[in-house]
Amino acid sequence: MTFEEIVHYRRSIRHYKALPIDPEKVKHCLELATLAPNSSNMQLWEFYHITDPEIIRKLAVACLNQGAAKTAQQLVVFVTRQDLYRKRAGDMLELSIQSTLQYSPEERVASRLRNRKRYYGFLMPFLYARFFGLLGWFRLMVANVLGLFRPIVYQVSENDMRVVVHKTCALAAQTFMLAMTNEGYDTCPMEGFDGRKARRILNLPFGAEINMIISCGIRDERGVWGERIRVPFEEVYKRI
Ligand SMILES: Cc1cc2nc3c(=O)[nH]c(=O)nc-3n(C[C@H](O)[C@H](O)[C@H](O)COP(=O)(O)O)c2cc1C
Repeated sequence: MTFEEIVHYRRSIRHYKALPIDPEKVKHCLELATLAPNSSNMQLWEFYHITDPEIIRKLAVACLNQGAAKTAQQLVVFVTRQDLYRKRAGDMLELSIQSTLQYSPEERVASRLRNRKRYYGFLMPFLYARFFGLLGWFRLMVANVLGLFRPIVYQVSENDMRVVVHKTCALAAQTFMLAMTNEGYDTCPMEGFDGRKARRILNLPFGAEINMIISCGIRDERGVWGERIRVPFEEVYKRI
């Protein structure tokens, strides 16, 4: 399929055929999903690939018994891990130092290294840290002062940063769904689930949040709910 055909073919599927799908192909689609653009390349996500029928059954109940979950062959739970910000910033600092040393022209190495250290060594831990909302207020105060002198990002509250990690995770989810279509597999993204039950089933750590649960399988035509409908494009397209 061409990219355009993939985008047209992908639908949210609410009923799958009782045909197995290859977990290795699903895993490969998740590898592709890690190539999605993501904020500051912090990759504060995790993907729980569920192939165990018993866990799928339990998660389908947590997904409010939706047909999309009950008939799924496999599930993928997209999870945000804002709590891993220190580790990921450290990982990215190390990887970006290696990449700078390998690819940067000699005269740029020192300044790029300083830059990377400031970015991943200081700015990222500063932006992603949480403490009952207070650190967000502090960041907002700093942004407001700096904003008097130069353009600045004001979306730095703790809630704003939570939105950032969910945005990033959703981009990985969309990349995954398109990759699955490319494999001839179908998906349905779900946010209709009991988050507490789902967390318990997966035994997620405290700082993890479920972004969405994506069911996977091969479409049964009953699972395609009618023609695709969208509001008129002119209503959402603004050319400036
Ligand atoms: C974040 C998100 C959550 C969704 N949650 C559900 C859900 O819980 N159950 C469901 O059947 N569809 C769910 N959908 C699918 C949408 O209803 C669907 O994408 C929309 O109706 C457009 O249809 P299409 O995907 O076939 O183009 C969700 C989609 C997104 C992006």
